[in-house]
Amino acid sequence: MNADLLIHSAAQLLTLVGPHPRRGEAMSDLGLIEDGAVAVHEGRILAVGPTDEIRSEVVARQEIDASGLMVMPGFVDPHTHAVWAGDRADEFEMRLRGATYMEIMAAGGGIMSTVRATRAASIEELITQSRRRLDTMLAHGTTTAEVKTGYGLDVENELKQLRAIRALDQAHPMTLVPTFLGAHAVPAEYKGHADEYVDLVVEEMLPAVKSQIADAQSPIFCDVFCDEGAFTLEQSRRVLEAAGTLGLGLKIHADEFKPLGGTRLAVELGAISADHLVCTPAEEIELLGRAETIAVALPGTPFGLAHHEYTPARAIISAGGALALATDLNPGTCWCESMPFIIALACRYMKLTPAEAIVAATVNAACAVGLAHQVGSLEAGKLADIVILDLPGYQHLPYRFGTNPVRTVIKAGRRVVG
Ligand code: NIG
Ligand code: FE
Repeated sequence: MNADLLIHSAAQLLTLVGPHPRRGEAMSDLGLIEDGAVAVHEGRILAVGPTDEIRSEVVARQEIDASGLMVMPGFVDPHTHAVWAGDRADEFEMRLRGATYMEIMAAGGGIMSTVRATRAASIEELITQSRRRLDTMLAHGTTTAEVKTGYGLDVENELKQLRAIRALDQAHPMTLVPTFLGAHAVPAEYKGHADEYVDLVVEEMLPAVKSQIADAQSPIFCDVFCDEGAFTLEQSRRVLEAAGTLGLGLKIHADEFKPLGGTRLAVELGAISADHLVCTPAEEIELLGRAETIAVALPGTPFGLAHHEYTPARAIISAGGALALATDLNPGTCWCESMPFIIALACRYMKLTPAEAIVAATVNAACAVGLAHQVGSLEAGKLADIVILDLPGYQHLPYRFGTNPVRTVIKAGRRVVG
């Protein structure tokens, strides 16, 4: 067979081939091949296996010698708010001095502060600021990411944010999956009238979003921030049921600060994921364990807030849940573009093993954005989204932290970093 590219002699090639999403014991299965090789043709993976085997089958135009290095699928980051304007460095310092995230939000800062900056920015400015973050994500090995709206909070600006996400998906090497998060916060002009804002989300924003993406091939999701100080369980249900009726996939920010029943709702509505899950009650963890819904943990968020409570990942895995990891990249709680750092946090504070954390950041993360047929593992036919890490083995990925281990990134067969 002819190939465009052969990456060979990897100390460890992690294929992640196998069942997905992975649960329980299967979360430890990396599909590891020593002295491994992967052949790429026309943007897709042609063959994967031991170097001598692949060499006997494939003639490649170009080769990369990965001796002493680790090769694996590009990371999938299934929960980000990567498109915004401005920053909230001042609030970070206020929190260090004792203010809480929710106090700052109740006083008109927090999400609303980024909403003001995002509304004031032109779409070009929004794209320019966000593109730099996408470049950093890519440099840290992320080749596919979900990106939410939720900093517009009116029809015009939610659509502007969605257009920015779609323009960046076209212009940037990364694959971006859009999520509509009109119910991220009750905007200042609706203060005290949250139900009327939910009317606007359901009656105007959702149909407008639907018509804007009518031509799109890739999936689109709807999310809601179900928490004290954001949206109640009943309001969250209204938004998600309306989105489901329009054919959008469903996601939810559940149990980040207070358990309102969001995880139960996600399971009942067949949401593709329930995210955060820091204070999820035991009965709802059991429900999640028996459901298709992926549990997305975001350990960068408690770390970013200097909180000490993390998603109870061991309990979720014991219950049978399919766990994924994401950055939650956003200007308030977690400005972090690096999946390797998230993996390092997950092992320390959520007690994942290195293999479980890598599964959660690749195959299971791909399931959480509905793209497991395209990305998340190195198998013939899938997109050739491949990272080469300057590490001799997978345990080194969480073991080392604070520097970037990624040497080369290949997106759809094209070398985009290194
Ligand atoms: O996932 N919790 C709600 N949304 C984000 C924070 C957004 C912000 O503060 O700007 C989160 O943590
Ligand atoms: Fe979030």
